[in-house]
Amino acid sequence: MLKIAVLVSGSGTNLQAIIDRIEDGTVKNAAIQIVISNNPKAYALERARQHDIKAVCISPKQFESRDAFNHALLDEIDRANVDLIVLAGFMVVVPAMIIEKYRNKIINIHPSLIPSFCGQGYYGLHVHEAALKKGVKVSGATVHFVDEGTDTGPIIMQKAVEVKNDDTPQTLQRRIMEQAEWIIMPKVIDAIAAGRVSVKDGIAKIEEE
Ligand code: GRF
Repeated sequence: MLKIAVLVSGSGTNLQAIIDRIEDGTVKNAAIQIVISNNPKAYALERARQHDIKAVCISPKQFESRDAFNHALLDEIDRANVDLIVLAGFMVVVPAMIIEKYRNKIINIHPSLIPSFCGQGYYGLHVHEAALKKGVKVSGATVHFVDEGTDTGPIIMQKAVEVKNDDTPQTLQRRIMEQAEWIIMPKVIDAIAAGRVSVKDGIAKIEEE
């Protein structure tokens, strides 16, 4: 059984997609042990509790220093004894010591086709604003392993989504969530749970079923 921690900051629709696919059996051999948010108001915490999943808030504001927060976050993850950390809209830079300890065990979802519209400053609606400004005809989402850079780790899965002439950042964001994010994140978790994902020389590969 693949034990998972999901780290969130906001509404948690990606968390919901993972919960739903585990519950309906599409994602096999996986269980969410804990949901951690840096934001006490994140609706994602409520979603977790509704499904009897342990949900905790660890906010930087509760600590004297960033270092103390980082250690508290690592301690909570360690205590949960997980095999995989899923960043599902987690708006905090993951500290290097966590990346080091959980190398190739942390995945993130980014709402564009990396290496387009990613890196520092590309989060939330900014990603989709940039895509529309450039006039790209397809965008999409990427699930990747997390390394020390911003959106630079090995790419695991991507899905393209059509950009429409009358899109706003909001409509494009929504379409990318519905047609890409909520689909590929559970798929990647299922593949990792089945032992079908490997990384060699910085390149991730998924074995066919
Ligand atoms: C998603 O767009 C995801 O790609 C990005 O943050 C957003 C999270 O949304 N990393 P939600 O909290 O899962 O609804």
